[in-house]
Amino acid sequence: MPKDKNRHRFELVKTRLGVVTIKNMELGEILHNPLGPWREANDLYVNYSNIKQKFMNLKLKEEPLVLFDLGLGAGTNAIAVIDLTRNIQNSCRPLKIISFENDLGLLEFALQNSSSLEFMEKDKFVLQELLDKGCYSCGNICWEIRNGEFTHFIAKESNYPEVIFFDFYSPNVAPQIWGLNIFQNLFGLCIKAKDTSILVTYSRSTAVRTAMLMAGFTVGMANGLANDHEGTVAATESSAILNPLDNRWLQRWRLSSRSLPFDLDGDSHSIVNQAILEHRQFSCKTEDLG
Ligand SMILES: C[S@@+](CC[C@H](N)C(=O)[O-])C[C@H]1O[C@@H](n2cnc3c(N)ncnc32)[C@H](O)[C@@H]1O
Repeated sequence: MPKDKNRHRFELVKTRLGVVTIKNMELGEILHNPLGPWREANDLYVNYSNIKQKFMNLKLKEEPLVLFDLGLGAGTNAIAVIDLTRNIQNSCRPLKIISFENDLGLLEFALQNSSSLEFMEKDKFVLQELLDKGCYSCGNICWEIRNGEFTHFIAKESNYPEVIFFDFYSPNVAPQIWGLNIFQNLFGLCIKAKDTSILVTYSRSTAVRTAMLMAGFTVGMANGLANDHEGTVAATESSAILNPLDNRWLQRWRLSSRSLPFDLDGDSHSIVNQAILEHRQFSCKTEDLG
């Protein structure tokens, strides 16, 4: 394949906040909008997943901390985690990063343009090795790629993630990957993890949050980000969620015409209503809704 095969598929552009990022020209989707790759990785994914505290939890020092990085893309989110580990002096848990990706063209494009993407320059050798070999390891960190369709891999995955970065293309362009079935699969793996699992995503879609709740997660807002951007954080334990979706969200959910998980049809309304209204996050409060 010629080296510039990705040139017409991806382009460098600026986000609404003026940060250089990548646009997928085939889907018309700008990645990491509006925060840009590095701030989104750190302010949203690293911060809201509590991964630093998990990494330093020596009560579990023999247990690898498993991070699911969905999808790998330009590798920003995983690189932010590796960067974080470099600033921690004390001994920590082994870290196993599993990145899921069905199109390594985005990483190739990012590496070819690393001088324009601030976060990449320092770690381009790490990313190049990951791309060439499908894995990278250094000290107590090992990183591997599941190269192919996520839905196939997840059905037979045998690692149990304590942290999930859910960063696929948006529900507007790829709704099925954000459906109930996917979150049920993930929840099934999460509850086998040694500690509370936390999933973070940039999406605040009502249908996505409904799917997460139905799958069994407690769901909250990842807010306080630049430009009033809000993502979502979900966990297997309620205590891990600082700003849970509340009665105001439930009121809006009741009025929303777009609350059904993307993989369910209109006949599922009553099942969905029951699952949400009886969810442990809301059930004690529904009498207030009238
Ligand atoms: C928004 S980008 C990810 C950005 C990335 N997390 C980063 O830190 O730079 C979404 C990525 O998910 C991948 N992807 C989308 N759907 C997928 C699927 N069904 N299976 C595997 N990878 C998928 C895309 O190819 C793309 O690279």
